[in-house]
Order: sequence, then C-alpha cells, then structure tokens
Amino acid sequence: MIEIIDPVTLNLLKETQFGLSDESGNVVYPILNGAYRLVSNNNYTSNFGMEWNAFQKTQIDKFSGNTVSENRLFAQTNWPKDGLQNQTVLEVGSGAGRFSQIILDHTKATLYSVDYSTAVEANFRNNGPNERLKLLQASIYDLPFKKHSFDKVICLGVLQHTPDVKASVKALVEMVKPGGELVIDFYPIKNILTKVHGKYILRPFLKRMNHDRMMALIRNNIDSLISIYKFNKRIGLGVLNRFVPICEIDRTLPAGMAEDQLKEWIILDTFDMFSPAYDQPQRLSTVSNWVKEFGLVDVDASWVKYHDNLEAATVRGRRQL
Ligand SMILES: C[S@@+](CC[C@H](N)C(=O)[O-])C[C@H]1O[C@@H](n2cnc3c(N)ncnc32)[C@H](O)[C@@H]1O
Repeated sequence: MIEIIDPVTLNLLKETQFGLSDESGNVVYPILNGAYRLVSNNNYTSNFGMEWNAFQKTQIDKFSGNTVSENRLFAQTNWPKDGLQNQTVLEVGSGAGRFSQIILDHTKATLYSVDYSTAVEANFRNNGPNERLKLLQASIYDLPFKKHSFDKVICLGVLQHTPDVKASVKALVEMVKPGGELVIDFYPIKNILTKVHGKYILRPFLKRMNHDRMMALIRNNIDSLISIYKFNKRIGLGVLNRFVPICEIDRTLPAGMAEDQLKEWIILDTFDMFSPAYDQPQRLSTVSNWVKEFGLVDVDASWVKYHDNLEAATVRGRRQL
C-alpha cells in the first residue's frame, strides 16, 4: 500500500471523503473534482490546465478512436498487457490522462497520477471515478510519497517543461522501490539545429502572451498556417516549415487521421508548443547519465518507435533489489 505524506511536514496523511487529513483529523489538503489538491492553481503550469481542460478528450484513445497512446505506453515500458496485478504505478505530469486511461483500462495496476495543473480535473472526467485511480494536484518537486514506494514510475512528455530537469529526474528516481522501474521521455536535442526553429525564436515573446489570446490567435490562423505548411512540402521546401509558427505535423502527430481530427490535434499541439513557461530539450546521454548517477541500474537510453512516423527519446532504469 502507498502511504501519502505531507510534503511539508513529512507526516503521514489519511485519505477521507473531504481530502487528506492529518493525525488530528484536520483536512490539510482538500479533495475537489476528484483530485487531492496539494498546491495552488496559480503556478507556472496554468497554460497546461487551460489546454487539457479545453482539449480534454482529443488525445485520449478511448475517445479519439486511435491507439497511439496505447502503442506508445507499451512500446516505451515493455509492460505486459493485463499484467501488473498488485503493482503500484506513479505517473507524474499526467495532463488529461491519455496514459492514465491506458494503465487503467489495459493493466491491473493501481495508479497514483500527479499533475501540477488543473489538468487533474480533465483526467478525472476522463478516467474517474475508479477505485484503482488516485489523482493528486502536486508538484514533481514535492511529491507526497515516501521514497522508494512505487513498482513503476513513469513521466512522459513532461520533463522538458519543468524548470530544473535534473532535479525532476532525481525526484522521479527517488520514488522507485527496490526491484522497481523508471520510464521517462523528453524532447531530445538531436543536433546543433534543434534550437534553430521558429518555436525557440518566438517562444520568448509568445510564452508571456495571455493564454486566451494565444488560443484565439492560433484558431483564427490555423487554416492559413496549414496551407503554408502543405505548400512548402509540395514544392520540396518542407525545411522552411521549421520557421512557420505551427507544430511539426509530420514528426509529432500520428499519420492517418481524418482532416477535422487532425486540425484539432494541430491546434492543441501548436498551443502546447508556444505556451509553456519552460521548454528545455535534453540529450539522451545526459539524462541517462543522471539516472545512473541517482542510483538506477540496467539503464537503457534509446529511440522507441511507436507509430508509423513517431518515435520518442526514452530512458529506462531499474532499482536493484
Ligand atoms: C505536455 S503535458 C503532457 C501531459 C501527458 N503526460 C501527455 O503526454 O499527454 C506536460 C504536463 O506536465 C505537467 N507538469 C509540468 N510541470 C510539472 C511539475 N512540476 N509537477 C507535476 N506536473 C508538471 C503539466 O501541468 C502538464 O500537464
């Protein structure tokens, strides 16, 4: 069983219908819309809270009709489907819960799913209530669990968006119990051109923009941007798309979607590209060295292919028994 602790006092907390309470029975962290709230909504992830509540169902396999999240999770983790009986999984940075859904619907694990933003509300609407799901709004830097608690720890699509990526990796490693496993991925630095990109040129201005305004700007211009992107590709100048302010459709979105569905994913991913407070890609070798430095063994760093046109820079490791 996983014990939930107060990240400030380190005292044990008890789950009640009103929230997490201390030993005197006082609720110290309330439960609201299905999630224990250990932090205020007013933090650097407010863009993600807005994004995942606005696009609650877009990337959730059971609603989108595709199997991208399922393929990705099992390709990255190598977990057996229908396995993980009596195992505990910690997922950090769960967003709207695309991987929470797969863990709950395709394994038998109990899931502790954490996000710093109000995305926990979207996750609850998508995946709750479920007796195998505990949702917590908390930060990777103040996780409310004892060290070495979980059989599996995953953090997918998150690390680059945290302010101190090395400290984030350390916090995740600390949660893995002896014999347990860590699986993480992140935006990779591939070569010196990685940051020569419209995203990194425009982000210093755009990340400060009001999020409603940014969303409206993207929605109002998305058709023209898609046309420019397609035109550049058609005339053999696809390389110019690095500088068009739109997500990298061919490299980041699953091929084969209907036009309307693809457009929704493009709007979501374009907002996701410009709005985060932090966007810090990492080298596979750097992250893998950190994971070893923090004590895991059998560390594997590789590109994992999970769809015709998609792959993820993934690091896995295990804590020795
Ligand atoms: C790009 S989203 C990915 C969400 C989900 N894993 C997915 O792939 O759909 C990154 C998520 O990380 C969360 N996040 C960022 N910093 C965090 C922190 N310090 N602690 C916990 N979650 C954090 C954000 O709120 C956001 O929901």
